[in-house]
Amino acid sequence: MRYALISDIHSNLEAFHSTLEDIEKQQVEKICCLGDLVGYGPNPVECVDLMLSLQKKGKLEVCLPGNHDQAAIFGSEGFNFMAQEAIEWTGDLLERSGALASERLDFLGEMTQPQARVFQKDELLFVHGSPRNFLNEYVFEEDVEDFKKLEDIFTSVSRKFSSKYCFMGHTHVPGIFVDNKVAGKYEYHSQKDIAENLGGKFSLGDDMLLVNVGSVGQPRDGNPQSCYVILDYEPQREGNYIEYRRIDYDVAKTLEAFDNVRKSSDKLHVFLAERIKEGR
Ligand SMILES: [Fe+2]
Repeated sequence: MRYALISDIHSNLEAFHSTLEDIEKQQVEKICCLGDLVGYGPNPVECVDLMLSLQKKGKLEVCLPGNHDQAAIFGSEGFNFMAQEAIEWTGDLLERSGALASERLDFLGEMTQPQARVFQKDELLFVHGSPRNFLNEYVFEEDVEDFKKLEDIFTSVSRKFSSKYCFMGHTHVPGIFVDNKVAGKYEYHSQKDIAENLGGKFSLGDDMLLVNVGSVGQPRDGNPQSCYVILDYEPQREGNYIEYRRIDYDVAKTLEAFDNVRKSSDKLHVFLAERIKEGR
C-alpha cells in the first residue's frame, strides 16, 4: 500500500493544492492527514472543503485533529497571541461560511472527538503531537539528547499501542528518530540529511522509528517548500520505506491571500505571512 502522509496544512490552499497535485502523480492509494488542517493561514474554508472532497472520493484513510483544529471548534486556550487571534478568526469565518457552514463545522467537530485523535494500522501509529499527548506534545530534534523523554515515547509506541513506527506532525520540522537497539542509542536524521546523505529513501527495518512528516503549509526547517511523506508499506514485507517529498508552490499567491484578509481584519498577523516565505 502506498500512503501519502500530510500534516500541518494550516489553511494554506496553494500549498495544499500543489501537494495534492504531486500526490496524484505518485500512485498513492490513500492519504493520511496528521492534523492542523486550519489555523494561521488565510484559506480555512477552502482547505476544509478540499479535505471534505478527498473524503467523499474515498481518498482519505484518516484525518486526525491537531491542536489548532481542536481550538477552532472548542476555543484557543494556551496559544500564543498570534496563533490565538488567527484561530479565533478561523472559527468565526467557518461559522459564517454560508449554507455549508454546518457541514464544515461537523467535519472538524467529528475529527476532534477524543476517540479520533489516534489511528493505528498494523505496526503503524499516527498522531498529531506524540503518542503520550496526541494534540500538544512537541518532539523536537534536540530531544534526541533527552534519553528519558525518547525512552518514554518509544515505550508508549511499543507497549501501549503494540506499534513499531509512529508518524507525527506538530513541530513542522521533518525528520526521523531511530531507536538503534544495536548501538544502544537514539539517532536523529533530518529530512535534509536523508535527501543529501542517505539517498532520499529511508528503509523500515528492525529499528523502531518516530517519523515527523513535516508541514504542507508552514514548514519551519528553513526550507519554504511544502513537505510530505510517501509511505510504501505492506505488513511482513521486506523493502518497506519512507520517502520525503518537497514541493514548490505559489507562495506569492498565498501571501496575496493573507493581504486580502488583512484588508478587513487585523487577526492574521504579518509575521504569519513572513514566516512561510522563509520556512521558519
Ligand atoms: Fe501545526
